[in-house]
Amino acid sequence: MKKAQQEAYKRDYAQAKKEGKPFFPYAIYKDHIVAILCFAWIIGMAIWHRVEVGRPIYEATTDFVPRPEWYFFFLFELLKIFKGDNFLTPVIMATFIVPNVLMALLILTPFIDRSPERRIEKRPFAMAVAIIIFTSLAWLTYKGATSEAPAAGALKFTPSDANTEIAARVIKQEPCLSCHVIGASGGSLGPNLNNIGSQGKGVQWHIDHLKNPSSKVPGSAMPAFAALSEPDLKALATVMDGMGTKYKVD
Ligand code: HEC
Repeated sequence: MKKAQQEAYKRDYAQAKKEGKPFFPYAIYKDHIVAILCFAWIIGMAIWHRVEVGRPIYEATTDFVPRPEWYFFFLFELLKIFKGDNFLTPVIMATFIVPNVLMALLILTPFIDRSPERRIEKRPFAMAVAIIIFTSLAWLTYKGATSEAPAAGALKFTPSDANTEIAARVIKQEPCLSCHVIGASGGSLGPNLNNIGSQGKGVQWHIDHLKNPSSKVPGSAMPAFAALSEPDLKALATVMDGMGTKYKVD
C-alpha cells in the first residue's frame, strides 16, 4: 500500500472506532437474536407441516433410484466425470481431492491476489476465480439435475430383443436381484448371473430350473418361479442361457 493510502485508512479506522459500536457485546447480541429467530422459524415450520419420518427402508428393493438433494448435484455429477474400474477412484477424486483442492484455492485467493483495490473491474484475478467457480458449480448442478435417472430397476441388455424385453420386465417384477448379481449390482445369496450362459446348459434346463430349482440342483435355496407364464419362462430362460455369450447387461 502506498503511504497516502495507508494514512487515509488509519484515519478512517480511528474515526469508525470512535463512532461505531463495539463488536462485543453489540454485534454478538444481534447475531444471537437472529440465530434464535431462524431456529424458531425452522422448528415452527417442522411442527406446522407435521414432518414425519418416512417409510422404513427395504434393502432388497430394486426400484428405488437414489438421487441426492439439489445442492449436492455438483458432487453427484463429479462422480460421473471420474470413471475408473476401481470404484474408489471416482469416490476419492470427486468427494475428497477435487473439492479440497478448490477449497484450498479459495482460501488462498486473498493471499495470492493482494491488491488493495475494491472495485471489481480492477480485480481481474479475483473476478476470474469467482466466475470460474460459480459457472462450474452452476454447470455441474445443471448437469446433475437434468441427467437422466437410470430406469428404475429395469436392466438394459445388449443386444436388446423381444426376449430381453420380457426378461427385463420379469427380473424387475420378481426378486431375482435380491439374490443374484445381474449387471452391476444385486445380492449374493445366489451365483452371479452375468456369465451364466457360458455354462451352455441350454434353454430347457433353465426353464426347468426356474419352475423347480431343486429338480435340477438338489437342495437349491432358490424359490420356484412356476407361476410365471410359459412365454415369460421361455424368454427368461433364453436370456439366462445367453448371459455372457450372446447377451450382456450394461
Ligand atoms: C432367494 C434367493 C433367490 C432368488 C430370489 C432367485 N434365485 Fe436364482 N439362485 C439362487 C441360488 C441359491 C442358486 C444356486 C442354486 C441353484 O442353482 O439352484 C440360484 C441359481 C440360479 C441359476 C442357476 C445358476 C447355475 O448354477 O447355473 C439361475 C439361472 C438363476 N438362479 C436365475 C434366477 C432368476 C432368473 C431369478 C428370478 C426370476 C432368480 N434366480 C431368483 C437364489 C435365488
